[in-house]
Amino acid sequence: MPSSKDLFELDLTNKLILVRVDLNLPVVNGIIQDETRLQSILPTIQEIIKKGGKVVLCSHFGRPNGEYNKKYSLKPLIEPLSKALNFPINFSPTCIGPEVEELKNNLKHGQALLLENLRFHKGEETNDKDFSKDLTLGIDYFVNDAFSCSHRKHSSTVGVTNFLPSFMGIHLEKEIRALESVLNNPKKPVAAIIGGSKVSTKIDVINFLLKKMDIIIIGGAMANTFVAAKGLNVGKSLFEKDSINLAKDLIKKSKNNNCDLILPSDFIVSKNLKKNAENTAINFDSIPSDMMALDIGPKSIEEIKKHINICKTILWNGPLGAFETYPFDKGTNKVALFVSSLTKQKKILSVAGGGDTVSALNNAKVLNDFSYVSTAGGAFLEWLEGKVLPGIEPIS
Ligand code: 3PG
Repeated sequence: MPSSKDLFELDLTNKLILVRVDLNLPVVNGIIQDETRLQSILPTIQEIIKKGGKVVLCSHFGRPNGEYNKKYSLKPLIEPLSKALNFPINFSPTCIGPEVEELKNNLKHGQALLLENLRFHKGEETNDKDFSKDLTLGIDYFVNDAFSCSHRKHSSTVGVTNFLPSFMGIHLEKEIRALESVLNNPKKPVAAIIGGSKVSTKIDVINFLLKKMDIIIIGGAMANTFVAAKGLNVGKSLFEKDSINLAKDLIKKSKNNNCDLILPSDFIVSKNLKKNAENTAINFDSIPSDMMALDIGPKSIEEIKKHINICKTILWNGPLGAFETYPFDKGTNKVALFVSSLTKQKKILSVAGGGDTVSALNNAKVLNDFSYVSTAGGAFLEWLEGKVLPGIEPIS
């Protein structure tokens, strides 16, 4: 198993190591909104440098479709990266070709080179053999430290592993360990909290988790589809008509798998989704025709807490209500606070991740109180679907 430990046992003196990182950071008007992904790649880079190696960093940023686009340049990341590492970073305006070869050759011990956005080259996303090979020219080893990109079968996640001895990075390994601690032999009882707006996007996740979890707690607008599946009125609530049969099927399957599928017993309903909008709590079977369910209600919160309280392991993906609009973040916040408090008391192990989950936990001010929070979106979901990620396969 080529772990990061295996790499660090090698003599890395003057070796050139290509590290795939995820610098696809949230940026608004040129300002980085959250540096978590940047911070997470530092241990691998620092350890390689400490062992005498030289680092070539590669990443994508956004979806520029194989063409140069200034908006998606990685150049603005030189400064925050240098600041975080406390040494200057060299930059290559391209990923392949004589210019980058020269920059690689001139790299000295203790230095790092950041390559421009991989996705400015068409070959990256098509996993082109020649592009993959060119990326590896002059390189001794490859390290994947981007779990969040490992669901992509691209040159920088898969192709390069055909040309170089390949290893897991410290961050990627930590992320996989955290996910395995929930999915493979977790301390039981184990529960998954699954929220978000669409059953259709989580169907494979729930299907997979039904076989792994003792309890699955459903929240978010997705819960409305389950209410509709029971033949009840959902008023003006967001729900997926086309997924009613999927929801019915999941209810049936949960029984066959001995998994307790917990649906909200009450909701917070309102006539509109606006900050401070007038709202009221109502039973799940009494949603008025002119209202929409925007959060789980107080009864549901207490019931969910009771279920969590008997668990030793919690997996969380997706918010339980329209958390971006106050006060419809209350359900998510109260449950998140409860999970974080049990985690701090070392009563449970809690792992969260995927899409909106990080923002929701951030809004609840508990992001640092979970055992592990993954910033991976699509990769986290595909892992929860039980898929083998193409970028992980060659290094595991
Ligand atoms: C992410 O933000 O989830 C990763 O960086 C992957 O990005 P992608 O969905 O554009 O491949």
